[in-house]
Amino acid sequence: MSLETTFFFQDHSHDFIQFLNQKKYSKIFLLADSHTNGFCLPLLKQLIPEFCYSCLIVIPAGEAHKNIDVCQLIWNALLLQKADKHSVLVNVGGGMVSDIGAFAASTYKRGIDFVNIPTTLLAMVDASFGGKNGIDFDDTKNAIGSFTNPSAVYFNTHFLKTLPNSVLRSGIAEILKHSLLDSIGALDETLDLDINDFFQARSYRKSIAFKSAIVQIDPHDEGIRQSLNLGHSIGHALESFMLYAPKPLLHGEAVLLGLIYELMISHLIFQLPIEIVQKVIAFKDRIFADLKCPFDYIDIEKFIGNDKKNRGEIRMSLLEAPGTGRWQVPVSVQQLKTAITETKQFLAK
Ligand SMILES: NC(=O)c1ccc[n+]([C@@H]2O[C@H](COP(=O)([O-])OP(=O)(O)OC[C@H]3O[C@@H](n4cnc5c(N)ncnc54)[C@H](O)[C@@H]3O)[C@@H](O)[C@H]2O)c1
Repeated sequence: MSLETTFFFQDHSHDFIQFLNQKKYSKIFLLADSHTNGFCLPLLKQLIPEFCYSCLIVIPAGEAHKNIDVCQLIWNALLLQKADKHSVLVNVGGGMVSDIGAFAASTYKRGIDFVNIPTTLLAMVDASFGGKNGIDFDDTKNAIGSFTNPSAVYFNTHFLKTLPNSVLRSGIAEILKHSLLDSIGALDETLDLDINDFFQARSYRKSIAFKSAIVQIDPHDEGIRQSLNLGHSIGHALESFMLYAPKPLLHGEAVLLGLIYELMISHLIFQLPIEIVQKVIAFKDRIFADLKCPFDYIDIEKFIGNDKKNRGEIRMSLLEAPGTGRWQVPVSVQQLKTAITETKQFLAK
């Protein structure tokens, strides 16, 4: 299993192939979901013909399948096709595929290598690296998981061309979160971008570099890395609340809403300027105009309590000022309720 991850960008696919060859894997397994199997594997095999000879495992698409049953399906397929300790699992997909694939690989025979090939913007800038993986369990997001690094990540924006618009823009929330935590300059730059600008190397590579730097300082999430949870306490709670709704929230949509509510809490607790909250709401209205999720505190109460980042009380990662994240901040139920009410008023304007 890898301690470090090597990144390959699309202009270096030859180096990626060489890297795989040097590893002398006994067998290469490709893991795709029912969408990336059709949309991304043909392109991948065109780019890297070596993958034409790999064994294929296909799982159902969507967050509702990031669970123990589908994980068993992957373990079964690996066993049936005689994957050994020197095999590698190549996860081709969004964050759902990389999370469950990485978890399955990191536990199969006490851990085999895996490589991530992100095919959504969200997976490119966030889910595909940093070592966190896992599955949802008993209504709780990412309840079971481990820290294990992919041996490599191969980034190629050509995969993004077949994404539905809603999934494309979903990754923008994580880029926005990184720029909130980076600096006021980075934030203003992001808030000015048009949707297509986010797929340009300058923007997404900056976001990858920002997260990588934080992960290197704190790989096991014991301190500063927790600042990256900004937007995720409420975001995860909304995602869980909506998981079985007719139209579930995408992870990035839930995070964008979570960011807005948590910036309001940051305003109440740290006097984060209200203009920052307003600017992010204006950004939401421009890029995510149709995104709505009416909810009350009661709807998310049980999910906020279940958040694995908490220890029986509500603690959140918040923003003291652009570029200054705070983590493990105690938040009272009253502060949370007030922030929900006040944010709703701003969202309704
Ligand atoms: N491990 C981490 O550090 C980390 C960080 C952030 C998010 N996550 C996890 O990532 C997941 C969300 O990831 P996501 O937003 O990428 O969602 P996803 O993986 O569920 O993909 C969204 C949809 O797009 C489809 N799809 C993916 N690539 C495609 C392509 N190129 N063309 C057409 N369709 C395509 C998928 O099949 C799916 O239907 C969540 O489970 C979240 O918890 C993990």
